[in-house]
Amino acid sequence: MQTSPKNLIDAFGRQVDYIRLSITDRCDFRCTYCMGEDVSFLPRDEVLSLEECARIVKAFVSLGVSKVRITGGEPLVRKNAIWLFEEIGQLAGVRELVTTTNGSQLEHQAQALKASGVKRINISLDSLNPERFRNITRVGDLDKVLRGIAAAKQSGFENIKLNSVLMRGINDDEILDLVRFAIVQEIDISFIEEMPIGSVDHARDSSFVSNIETLATLQQNFPLISSALNTGGPARYWQVAETHTKIGFISPHSHNFCEACNRVRITCKGELYLCLGQDDKIELMPILRANPNDDEPLINAIIDSMKIKPKGHDFDLQRAAPAVIRFMSHTGG
Ligand code: 5AD
Ligand code: SF4
Repeated sequence: MQTSPKNLIDAFGRQVDYIRLSITDRCDFRCTYCMGEDVSFLPRDEVLSLEECARIVKAFVSLGVSKVRITGGEPLVRKNAIWLFEEIGQLAGVRELVTTTNGSQLEHQAQALKASGVKRINISLDSLNPERFRNITRVGDLDKVLRGIAAAKQSGFENIKLNSVLMRGINDDEILDLVRFAIVQEIDISFIEEMPIGSVDHARDSSFVSNIETLATLQQNFPLISSALNTGGPARYWQVAETHTKIGFISPHSHNFCEACNRVRITCKGELYLCLGQDDKIELMPILRANPNDDEPLINAIIDSMKIKPKGHDFDLQRAAPAVIRFMSHTGG
């Protein structure tokens, strides 16, 4: 039994201190850029139990991971998800427990989420027009999400951030309205460039809106001050002067952020992906299930995985097939 503190350092000297764990592939929305309309979900025994999720997080935290993001699918549609948040929230090594949600369950769960120790939440919002919101999410109810955002604000999170994916001809005309909404709500907003992950039914290269263009549009309409804020991720931030709102830009295409990559992802099937844009992975579920009472093999597998974390990703819109055919709802963004 090794007791000395260990860190996860990969072959390129990058320390991994941030994990993103998808706790379900299920979602109550069907966003067009994320899933097909008739998506089928995994059978229950192929998905990590919440106890297995907790074991994985504890193993990573014992290896120096201090930031944990719980994603999905929609994490809050998983039954007893709050139990897992509470388990993680109690871990001494966890400095930041955060989550990404579509907001549909926040009306009822925001308070419990805050009480479990979640500091910040990201809420997806691509349109403020109910009909359009319905078209993008196929089934989503904008009003419910807006009530969820209100509940989150009332619960007192340190920070709330909207995530918006702009698509040309679909919602790109709402760019100013989305920012104005964030300003009125006194919350942040990030624009995420659409990524070639999974399969979609709209033409990706014609709907793609570059963040360079988005920033230029916003600079013409708002006084933006470049922000020194660095979350250790791919986002660049700008403060809207004299407001409480920061605008972030997450640009997998126009800005290469791989050198500073500090994260790995774990899917709801227990696949440990070392890079969002590459296929290198380790299957953690067989290790967990073969060793129900011993975390040493799990910890060793995680340490070993650092050797195969690749140097960078390889997204290319021009290519016929996506670089990685994998659904966002499995890898959890
Ligand atoms: N490209 C960009 N963003 C995506 N999201 C889901 N699929 C994609 C994609 N293909 C976004 C969601 C959510 C965040 C977790 O990722 O809208 O805001
Ligand atoms: Fe659900 Fe998020 Fe995928 Fe939309 S993008 S279908 S909210 S997991």
